[in-house]
Amino acid sequence: MKLCILGFGAVGRGVAKVISMKKEEMKEKYGLDLKITAVTDTSGAAIYDEGLDPNLLLKIKEDTGKISNYPEYGISKISNMEVLHKVDFDCLIEVTPTDIENGEPAKSHILKAFNDKKDVVTSNKGPLALSFRELAESAKENNVQLKYEASVGGAMPILNFAHDTLPSCNIKSIFGILNGTTNYILSRMAKEGSSYEQILKESQEMGIAETNPAQDVEGTDAACKVVILANSIMNRDVTLKDVEIVGISKITQEAISLARNEGYLIKLIGEISEDTLEVSPRLVREGSPFAVDGTLNVATLKTDLAEDVTVVGKGAGSIETASAILSDIISIYKSKE
Ligand code: HSE
Repeated sequence: MKLCILGFGAVGRGVAKVISMKKEEMKEKYGLDLKITAVTDTSGAAIYDEGLDPNLLLKIKEDTGKISNYPEYGISKISNMEVLHKVDFDCLIEVTPTDIENGEPAKSHILKAFNDKKDVVTSNKGPLALSFRELAESAKENNVQLKYEASVGGAMPILNFAHDTLPSCNIKSIFGILNGTTNYILSRMAKEGSSYEQILKESQEMGIAETNPAQDVEGTDAACKVVILANSIMNRDVTLKDVEIVGISKITQEAISLARNEGYLIKLIGEISEDTLEVSPRLVREGSPFAVDGTLNVATLKTDLAEDVTVVGKGAGSIETASAILSDIISIYKSKE
């Protein structure tokens, strides 16, 4: 299976790493031969139809910051659209930064791939949160697959879990911590009393925050996930503007300490229920399933038949997010066997 990876930030590099780690295992377990035929970043691209070396891609990016320096197959200043025209691939891995104004240019990349009858795996929340129906319909019309497990909760299994493991159930509501960066900030503030700014800086260095970290702390990243969950597994037709959003930037150390003294933690919670589509800081009891630390995400799905089902897992991180992307790639491959 030939992969074209657009974007070589934390997630794109995670994909190269997991492919390097799992290439042989994929062949043995599933007969899946993964080849990266193109990778892009803002400098240009590396393109090779016989497959680029994932370790060399990572080394070149780390040493020089530019994927276009890849020996022999590097190309400067080629656009992502030109790469999509030029490259031979089966599945697009769209992992460029999330844009929450219009979902571009990721949305155009995805639609171009669909028109060319290619499947798409993405972690990009912008196009999904703003144009979910349009993308789903285009995939259907072109008879290709759109998979996006990595877009909600990184490695926390929720979308495929709801579709594939709970297909007997209607999901009535979802209540969850859907942003790793803010959970990391809030739990560190609660434990150590370190300053908000210092911890936010660390989250950026760890590669868990968005390229624009305001999206994390102002709650828009979690709101994108609320929209994706509502559309994907609760059959709604909503977009980002339908979500009421309050972030964590005004949460003070005093508020956290006060809550702790009463046995509570402050968490940024997303809620999707019959009359609520919201992201806001709320109190959760210490010791409850929502009292998860660090970059963990957690979500409770209220169902008609199975009652409450709660999932938890790392909500951000390069390898963790790439694990969900690789699972989607495997799922597409298996569906064609
Ligand atoms: N910045 C996001 C988070 C990345 O912290 O959850 C995963 O979507």
